[in-house]
Amino acid sequence: MRAEQNQRFTQVGPGTPMGELLRRYWHPFAAVAEVDELGVKPVRLLGENLVAFKSKNGSYGLIDRQCPHRRADMLNGIIEDDGLRCSYHGWCFASSGQCLEQPFEDIANPKARFKDKIRTKAYPVEVKAGMLWAYMGPQPAPLVPNWEPFTWANGFQQIVFADVPCNWFQCQENSCDPVHFEWMHRNWTSVLKGDGSYGPTHLELAFEEFEFGHIYKRVREDTDKDNPHWTVGATALWPNAFFLGDHIEWRVPIDDENTLSVTWMFHRVPADREPFVQKRIPYWTGPVKDAYGEWITSHVMNQDIVAWVGQGTIADRTQEHLGKSDWGIVMMRRAFEADMKRVEAGEGDPKAVIRDAEFNRCVELPIKHKELFTASMTLEESRRLGDTLQYRINRPDYQHQVGQPEAVKREYQIAMGMIPEDATETI
Ligand code: FES
Ligand SMILES: [Fe+2]
Repeated sequence: MRAEQNQRFTQVGPGTPMGELLRRYWHPFAAVAEVDELGVKPVRLLGENLVAFKSKNGSYGLIDRQCPHRRADMLNGIIEDDGLRCSYHGWCFASSGQCLEQPFEDIANPKARFKDKIRTKAYPVEVKAGMLWAYMGPQPAPLVPNWEPFTWANGFQQIVFADVPCNWFQCQENSCDPVHFEWMHRNWTSVLKGDGSYGPTHLELAFEEFEFGHIYKRVREDTDKDNPHWTVGATALWPNAFFLGDHIEWRVPIDDENTLSVTWMFHRVPADREPFVQKRIPYWTGPVKDAYGEWITSHVMNQDIVAWVGQGTIADRTQEHLGKSDWGIVMMRRAFEADMKRVEAGEGDPKAVIRDAEFNRCVELPIKHKELFTASMTLEESRRLGDTLQYRINRPDYQHQVGQPEAVKREYQIAMGMIPEDATETI
């Protein structure tokens, strides 16, 4: 790859080819519960500094971090019924960006209605699956995709973040990288534990492009073409997510050198806990380094993060040597290039933009052993089935990423019927 091509894939600011493409999609940028609690939260997204807020009337906004009057920090803003007021001189802004009030100007020169001429940068925000989503592109905005798992009932959901200090594109390339499971997650874990065992080798791979991304399929020594690894596969979800049914991971670009890892995780509660409704979907941010400043390698997501940052802040793709295992990555890069050209040429929507509300009632994607995530079972039954499918689920600890706080763990264990409602200690 030439250096200029690498820049096209990795630069996300306004006016860059990838930045413009990514602005055609909704991006999850915070948990709803987080902004509900904080009131105002600093947000850096696609290289732009913003603040998210919740008005007293319950609506959410995402506006420029700097006030358009004399550039004060809106993070110190005062929450009003219908917007956010700058605490420097009191100018108040609606979530649309429209200036609603300029206290002194409104008194000194009311006829001028100077406020009508002032608008701050503002992006639409929507709520879905316990997350706040932003759309930073041209109007009309498409719909926030309603992926099928968002429609599942009786699940304990949680939103898990990590701040990853590298470019988003190398994170997303990992969504179409089957062989890394064998080495990074299986064999390397063995090496780190010192047990010396290696897992089954991959024998055959297949990659397919479809409407919502790319699917990869695999055969290992211990599986055949009747196995869901081959018959269903896993989905690199367009443009920046990895879809596995019970969880979805987004690699949200903060800027060219930082990525927000966002995981939405769903755990079906046992049959005797139904009907289960979550009033508040909890969220947490896991650490990427330990107390000694070393990268954490204990959990799957942390191993992925170690791989991504290890490729460099922005991976230098001019120095790569791609093989057959990288065919999915080649397909993804070609599709991104085609979509960047499409947006540059003004030829309409890029891939996977959804505008049909009827279609968006439930967007189905391939899901391996879906019954494991959706069927009504006892805890023991789900664990037994999970073990036979080599998909360990419903353990007392969060398996995927390190750092789940005790409070969330307790909520989860109560929801799963692992500890009583009034338990103060987790297991
Ligand atoms: S800088 Fe915000 S009101 Fe003056
Ligand atoms: Fe991984």
